[in-house]
Amino acid sequence: MLGGLRNVVRQELVARQLDEQIVGRYPVGQRLRVLDVGMGQGTQALRLARAGHQVTGVEQDATMIAAARESLSGEPEGIRERMRIVEGDGRDTGVHFLPGSFDVVLCHGVLMYVEEPDALLAGLARMLAPGGLLSLLVRNGDALAMRPGRSGDWAAALGAFDTAAYTNRLGLDVRADRLATLTATLAGIGAPLRSWYGVRVFTDDAADGAELPPDMDALLAAEERAGRTDPYRGVAALLHLCGVRG
Ligand SMILES: C[S@@+](CC[C@H](N)C(=O)[O-])C[C@H]1O[C@@H](n2cnc3c(N)ncnc32)[C@H](O)[C@@H]1O
Repeated sequence: MLGGLRNVVRQELVARQLDEQIVGRYPVGQRLRVLDVGMGQGTQALRLARAGHQVTGVEQDATMIAAARESLSGEPEGIRERMRIVEGDGRDTGVHFLPGSFDVVLCHGVLMYVEEPDALLAGLARMLAPGGLLSLLVRNGDALAMRPGRSGDWAAALGAFDTAAYTNRLGLDVRADRLATLTATLAGIGAPLRSWYGVRVFTDDAADGAELPPDMDALLAAEERAGRTDPYRGVAALLHLCGVRG
């Protein structure tokens, strides 16, 4: 897993929330077919393969694929066999896979880079078997004023109320998504929203690469509680939306 407090909180919270959804939907021990679109270095994909699931990761960036392959190469053979990496665009899942061939589809930290997300999302929903789970992690477009507001940049905070555009920590101009809009989209593509969580309510302002504090367990417990509790989850930096294919 990439180091740094912010990424550890993000990955750990998403893992706990995802496991809660999986446990609630499938018998313990069932080997699930998982598709991870925009898998990056494969943190969640590898975790799920280690847990016994059959995982396919799609990624368009060669550097990320190399990092994922490197991590995978250190795993026992049984885990390596359960994970497949496909180089390609997440908008082309229909080219690579048959409709309905996955139980769980992940798309984490990708939507912000996609200008017209509806076609991508519809394609992901088509990949799901009936009852399958679509897990989306997006930048929270309802709370874009929080970061500049907390840092005292009032002009930027005021500007953030009426836009979905923001500049991320890599300096890229990207797009956030709003809960209400995605709720409508998920209903429209046949995978209505079942549950949603906030991710990074308290630690979003941590410096890049900030080290883990000694009381990390308590920090994660507080983040996890806030991520499932109103009104805290509504102003989290990221939203984790889980839709279920009807
Ligand atoms: C912020 S990273 C997130 C990685 C991983 N999903 C995670 O949550 O840790 C976003 C990843 O999505 C990939 N990506 C963005 N647009 C994509 C697309 N259209 N098709 C495939 N991968 C894409 C990027 O290359 C990058 O590796």
